Amino acid sequence: MEIHGGFTETMQEGSGDMRRPFLIGERLYLRLLEESDIGEDYLGWLNDVEVTRYLETGRFPSTLETMRKYLNHFRNSTTDMIFAIVDRETDHHVGNVTLNRISWIHRTADTGLMIGRKDFWGKGYAFEAWSLLIEYAFQRLGLRKIIAGAVADNKASIVALEKLGFRVEGTFRREYLIDGEYRDSVRLGLLREEFYKYVQ
Ligand SMILES: CC(C)(COP(=O)(O)OP(=O)(O)OC[C@H]1O[C@@H](n2cnc3c(N)ncnc32)[C@H](O)[C@@H]1OP(=O)(O)O)[C@@H](O)C(=O)NCCC(=O)NCCS
Repeated sequence: MEIHGGFTETMQEGSGDMRRPFLIGERLYLRLLEESDIGEDYLGWLNDVEVTRYLETGRFPSTLETMRKYLNHFRNSTTDMIFAIVDRETDHHVGNVTLNRISWIHRTADTGLMIGRKDFWGKGYAFEAWSLLIEYAFQRLGLRKIIAGAVADNKASIVALEKLGFRVEGTFRREYLIDGEYRDSVRLGLLREEFYKYVQ
């Protein structure tokens, strides 16, 4: 996977035209999430209980207005970023990935990810999107540790994170109400030297 240095209006590479790619992988690329991404498709993901089952998003109905407010939060922030995950083959926006609460003192950040298009689940897209973001966080932002949280039942998420090198650092008992029951959550952490790409 290549990391590209900056924004380009469009870029021809491989199978399709990419619009303002920031980080380019084999099957997907990441670019900043934009106002034009906010629309009925994305709104549908946030109001789909299967997509939001393990997320805080979705507890209350989302609207185009709440989504714009959410996007505005990231503008001009030096500690929170959100990227659109875009399928290179079709140029479809399929999900988002965030790098949040960057601490420039401790050199840590949290990450979260949503593949909103369910037809893109189970194809390794979470792994590839996180891989691009984490390499960027370590190499270009100089961070040394990335943190992720997941409901313990969210096996697909935990498997993808563990494949990247994350380790479970702790369990929080009965933290979240999911499908009428209080479920455990886990916190996972990834040190730079544990990232699968850097492991010898
Ligand atoms: C959870 C989510 C991120 C997974 O994305 P994805 O692109 O389908 O994940 P990947 O294909 O990269 O990897 C999933 C892995 O989990 C495995 N997996 C899936 N369900 C599993 C289960 N019930 N038990 C064990 N492993 C499972 C898959 O086999 C795959 O492993 P493999 O690559 O070795 O085959 C995606 O479904 C999603 O965005 N869901 C909605 C939002 C969400 O829950 N986000 C995560 C918040 S922490």
